[in-house]
Amino acid sequence: MTAISHSNRGPARPSAHPRRVFLLGATGTIGRATELALVRRGHEVVCFVRPRAGVGGALAPGDSVRLLAGSTVRFGDITRPESLVRDGFQGEHFDALVSCMASRTGAPKDAWTIDHAAHVHALEAARLAGVSQVVLLSALCVQKPLLAFQHAKLAFEKALIDSGLTYSIVRPTAFFKSLSGQVERVKRGKPFLLFGDGTLTACKPISDNDLADYLADCLDEESRQNRVLPIGGPGEAITPRQQGEHLFALFGRTPKFRHVPVGLMDAIVGVLGTLGSVMPPLADKAELARIGRYYATESMLVIDPQTGRYDARATPSTGTETLFDFYARLANGGIAPERGDHAVF
Ligand SMILES: NC(=O)c1ccc[n+]([C@@H]2O[C@H](COP(=O)([O-])OP(=O)(O)OC[C@H]3O[C@@H](n4cnc5c(N)ncnc54)[C@H](OP(=O)(O)O)[C@@H]3O)[C@@H](O)[C@H]2O)c1
Repeated sequence: MTAISHSNRGPARPSAHPRRVFLLGATGTIGRATELALVRRGHEVVCFVRPRAGVGGALAPGDSVRLLAGSTVRFGDITRPESLVRDGFQGEHFDALVSCMASRTGAPKDAWTIDHAAHVHALEAARLAGVSQVVLLSALCVQKPLLAFQHAKLAFEKALIDSGLTYSIVRPTAFFKSLSGQVERVKRGKPFLLFGDGTLTACKPISDNDLADYLADCLDEESRQNRVLPIGGPGEAITPRQQGEHLFALFGRTPKFRHVPVGLMDAIVGVLGTLGSVMPPLADKAELARIGRYYATESMLVIDPQTGRYDARATPSTGTETLFDFYARLANGGIAPERGDHAVF
């Protein structure tokens, strides 16, 4: 098996102004790539992580230190402001805060704790440490907020904009990991699952590395500062049906689709929502179903304010890596990425 790593990245242009960067969320998918992108530009990076990190707490402290070998790794509890100050910033000066941190579940309580409150505390501690610039990884879907985690993210975006610090709020489209859940199914000869006819939605997938480069370059590129930045990957927008067709061609199989009616998702959301109001443990499951329904019906493209429609042409592109190159690497034995709690298929 070949791990799909960041090692095939060419040398980065060093930053003209290397900075001391405090990085949150460094153990996540985009955080790992962003740590590398920052280090490759010559920044001095301090990562603040929890003692058990990664999907399901799979990373012990030594694993995180090895994973983030180019940086200093500090351990603490981001949900406790005193830990952030004592164990994280440690009374030192920093120039920039970069955050790729986000709730792993998207459940309302976790989202408000991490995507909002922990960020508010981090912003305050960062300001006290001398930070004058913040780069925040957000999500394009907050432009049409229907879910708890989207409202939590928007609330922090507003706090950051109001802070007076220089900010770059980066709102990407879909990540490769979120579009790779059916590679194994197709490989094993199973049908590709589609909501509706598979053309209800589209996105411009962005690779971890291309997004990480974009985030890291926000520190130097003035055109990306004090702005909210929707961003997709290279090439045309792709529908779920096109993803399926491409995978069947890649594995030399006859296309076989199974259509899941959106009404079925509505029924699941409705039942779990009703049960969740009387049985709290089911409330999080209801929110997960709502998240699944959202991505089944909403495109990850910029909404044109004139028409109210998703618009691929209005969605900027960056980078060089395409989803179909990534599928080819997976088909050639690359290890599929960890998809975490948001995985629908
Ligand atoms: N998936 C997509 O297609 C997509 C598209 C656009 C935007 N986005 C957005 O991109 C962002 C990052 O995505 P990702 O896939 O890189 O996320 P991820 O892999 O789930 O990583 C989340 C990071 O946040 C940290 N974190 C979560 N809860 C924490 C806690 N209680 N204490 C300390 N750290 C905590 C995690 O640390 P641990 O390792 O300790 O858990 C991890 O480092 C999210 O805001 C997401 O909404 C995603």
